[in-house]
Amino acid sequence: MEVQSPNSLLTKPEASIDLGKVFVETYGCQMNEYDSGIVRELFRKENYGNATSVEDSDIIFLNTCAVRENAHAKIYSRLQSLGYLKKKNPNLVIGVLGCMAQNLGEDLFHQELPLDLIVGPDNYRSLPELIQKIRGGERDVQLTRLSKTETYDELEPRVVNGIQAFVTIMRGCNNFCTFCVVPYTRGRERSREPASIVNEILKLEALGVRQVTLLGQNVNSYLHDQEDFSSLIETILSETTIERLRFTSPHPKDFPLHLLDLMAKEDRFSSQIHLPLQAGNDKVLRDMKRSYTKQEYLDLVDLIRTKIPDVGITTDIIVGFPGETREEFEETLDVVRAVGYDMSYMFKYSEREGTIAKRKFVDDVSEEDKSSRLIELVDLQSSISLSKNRERIGKVFNVMVENTSKKSKVELCGRSHCGKMVVFPIPEGMGQNLTDWLGKSVNVQIDSVTSATLRGHLV
Ligand code: SAH
Ligand code: SF4
Ligand code: F3S
Repeated sequence: MEVQSPNSLLTKPEASIDLGKVFVETYGCQMNEYDSGIVRELFRKENYGNATSVEDSDIIFLNTCAVRENAHAKIYSRLQSLGYLKKKNPNLVIGVLGCMAQNLGEDLFHQELPLDLIVGPDNYRSLPELIQKIRGGERDVQLTRLSKTETYDELEPRVVNGIQAFVTIMRGCNNFCTFCVVPYTRGRERSREPASIVNEILKLEALGVRQVTLLGQNVNSYLHDQEDFSSLIETILSETTIERLRFTSPHPKDFPLHLLDLMAKEDRFSSQIHLPLQAGNDKVLRDMKRSYTKQEYLDLVDLIRTKIPDVGITTDIIVGFPGETREEFEETLDVVRAVGYDMSYMFKYSEREGTIAKRKFVDDVSEEDKSSRLIELVDLQSSISLSKNRERIGKVFNVMVENTSKKSKVELCGRSHCGKMVVFPIPEGMGQNLTDWLGKSVNVQIDSVTSATLRGHLV
């Protein structure tokens, strides 16, 4: 079905009508987390209530991911598990949003799932109107039109977690890495107006936020009129007092020198870079359409380390891409050793509907080989993370306190400039509550480490 009006002003209800409560459950990446906030904000503005659980809801949205097969499987079983609520309350509306909605579209209606609505990531403004249509008796309502312009500028979700918040600055992807479904689920790259980004950060500051993570599928490809990613960072640093600015996920192709210089120079610009590698062999990289060779990637890492000696580098890696031989996989291990990542997200290749790899290549690495390569890679990464962290024993890190530690209320945790999680006990005789510390920058000397965490004491 098609919807002409981009918003639902015409159907805006009186505040006194009970429109019911909305619940949004999020899967996938931080951009989806942010988008769920956009959806909540949209319904709040339209005077809907906010549900705290699925049992308590009149409308349930699952904001889904499509990046790997297991992301799909999770949603099918979640939908099945919601069937009993629909039997209890025939007026309950269940909708699938996000990347899986965009990717599968109306096919989802043919699976005998308890489902009324399918809406893609660029069509959330129409949601209240579509809900009204369903309540008016329409069945199997779908809207999955990709947009070249939608950036939801003024719908600010305020995804705040203590002192930390996310802000989406661009949407979509033009890279078409052959394995990846994102360009099809999120559409073309488009960047948000700088003034609207600054405005959102200023409002977050007023809520007590001290650290902002800028989000985008290719965050460093940001381009709005003449303003590129570096100049956006400069604008944010000069027009706000936010203490720490981070970003994810960048693409290795967009790291101009002036961006690295800015990271080196600006204390408030975090010295952590997520640099997705995907694979270490040139043929595999070419087949993935990653636009760099192994050597170019390693040269970039060298340049980054020369400019920003204390940088923390993390990555994403796929094992078992079509045609990947044992020798080619070993080149991935070589790069992992050579770079010495602080942390890696590691995945088995998962063939996705609609991608170039699915059309061009045979998914011919056996499940057994994918699993054993993944285990080997994870083991290597853990030992590297541990030995890199051991080198940090005795050193002092500046940490911005984010929370109490997972294990104890009398321990605090926060991230160092290079993105490392640091835990330390609250010293006796000092404020014993999180509120005494939240958002403060403190110096911590490291005493012991695991592969994931540094532990120390306040100095
Ligand atoms: N835009 C980001 C992240 C995209 S998805 C980027 O370019 O880095 C996050 C990660 O999921 C990717 O970096 C990749 O490592 C992994 N991924 C994407 N598609 C995949 C697939 N079909 N199979 C396995 N892993 C995949
Ligand atoms: Fe996917 Fe590649 Fe775009 Fe990242 S850059 S979202 S991996 S197509
Ligand atoms: Fe998943 Fe879509 Fe994010 S596919 S990783 S939710 S952009």
